Amino acid sequence: MNAVSILGGTGQQGRGLARRLAAAGVTVTIGSRDPARARQGVSEWPMHPSAAALLVADNIAAVVDAALVILAVPFTSVDGLLDELRPHFSARAIVVDVTVPVTFAAGKMAMLEVTEGSASEHVRARLPEHVGVAAAFKTIPAHVLDDDANQPLDCDEFVCGDSEEARARAVSLVQLLPGLRPVDVGPLSRARSVEHLTALAIAINRRHKIHEARYRIVGL
Ligand SMILES: NC(=O)c1ccc[n+]([C@@H]2O[C@H](COP(=O)([O-])OP(=O)(O)OC[C@H]3O[C@@H](n4cnc5c(N)ncnc54)[C@H](OP(=O)(O)O)[C@@H]3O)[C@@H](O)[C@H]2O)c1
Repeated sequence: MNAVSILGGTGQQGRGLARRLAAAGVTVTIGSRDPARARQGVSEWPMHPSAAALLVADNIAAVVDAALVILAVPFTSVDGLLDELRPHFSARAIVVDVTVPVTFAAGKMAMLEVTEGSASEHVRARLPEHVGVAAAFKTIPAHVLDDDANQPLDCDEFVCGDSEEARARAVSLVQLLPGLRPVDVGPLSRARSVEHLTALAIAINRRHKIHEARYRIVGL
């Protein structure tokens, strides 16, 4: 894999993914609603000395011709964004969904009810059939992913998807990040459990006043 586009790449989670994938030699295109602003921000990011190029484009240009697209925008903005981008995905593209349907109103975390069962199935329902969907990078906190020292992540990352191919490509993507072990958990419907694990990790962080709670499966 040598190129990935990240929608929402200017955000906390997207930035950590972009910097780490570029450090692993992947050419990353950051998709943004405002490429000029994004380009300015990206030019100030601390990068690994041998990192691959970071490109910036508007969201449509970021998905046209992209074989692999990471969706890292707030869940509440998914519908509007995918309405705009739906006709522009290339044939056999894979979308790796990072979104988690949590809200933080008045400092209180709440899980949104998603009719399709999970954020990833919601995304699946809004993409053309020829686009595959996988879920990954939902339980790794941005605080860890975007750490300036680029420390090994030292945890597992759950991957599920709507086809063998979507899962395999998401697994390969996770494997590019040192210290992150992909754990294939099967069909896309497992995203619901994964998203609830993210909410649990946030709750653990809050209760124990830390920022780094994440998962490791023992016995595997
Ligand atoms: N933060 C974490 O620790 C973490 C962990 C696991 C999963 N996640 C998930 O990852 C996703 C991104 O999280 P985040 O904390 O990085 O979010 P964020 O910083 O709030 O937003 C990410 C980017 O999304 C774009 N965006 C915002 N509103 C939009 C809209 N209405 N339409 C289109 N694009 C919009 C913005 O980019 P532009 O302004 O450049 O367009 C923004 O920089 C979320 O779904 C979250 O649940 C986050």
